[in-house]
Amino acid sequence: MDGQKILVLFAHPNFQTSKINRQLVAALKMLAHVSFHDLYEAYPNLYIDVKREQDLLLAHDIIVFMHPFYWYSAPAILKEWQDMVLQHGFAYGETGKALQGKKLLSVISAGGSAEAYHPQGANRFSIKQLLSPFDQTAYLCGMEYLPPFVVHNTLHLSDAEIERHAKELEMLMITLGQGKMDNNGELIGACRPD
Ligand SMILES: Cc1cc2nc3c(=O)[nH]c(=O)nc-3n(C[C@H](O)[C@H](O)[C@H](O)COP(=O)(O)O)c2cc1C
Repeated sequence: MDGQKILVLFAHPNFQTSKINRQLVAALKMLAHVSFHDLYEAYPNLYIDVKREQDLLLAHDIIVFMHPFYWYSAPAILKEWQDMVLQHGFAYGETGKALQGKKLLSVISAGGSAEAYHPQGANRFSIKQLLSPFDQTAYLCGMEYLPPFVVHNTLHLSDAEIERHAKELEMLMITLGQGKMDNNGELIGACRPD
């Protein structure tokens, strides 16, 4: 399990105005075992290079979908990426075994508070429930979907709180890179949302 290579697929259509992800990304870029791939920067016209993306997937053990939560899902380019890259015969189907045994992690920033993502809250569903299409996508591809890393309440975080979350994400990436999981598949020492 040692020396896990991590590919971060980052999707933020307005990165120049970002406050939260800007700091999270800065923390990730320090880590040698993490490959950072900004999808909007690579494909401003949403024209995905499928072969390049599939080769990147093959070269890594852990795939991260990192993005602000937009309309209870990901910004559009990540859907386009899934539609184009996760092809039958590559990612799923009888001969589609390329991703089997790899892990998938969602790293999300959400304007809503943790309390809002609750049956009695404004958003009614938990983040985990809303992320179920990603969970099921991982399952179909033979991947393990890890518990998501979520930064809530983005509009109301102090600089110190954002810095703390960036540090937590950095620690999570280090833990994952070392292949440290307990027997239940839970991450050791990582910050987990509700
Ligand atoms: C188009 C759009 C849709 C959004 N949808 C949601 C949403 O469904 N749930 C939520 O909690 N926040 C939502 N937000 C708030 C963003 O998640 C929040 O602004 C972002 O995570 C902040 O990160 P940043 O500073 O890196 O841009 C939305 C924001 C925009 C612009």
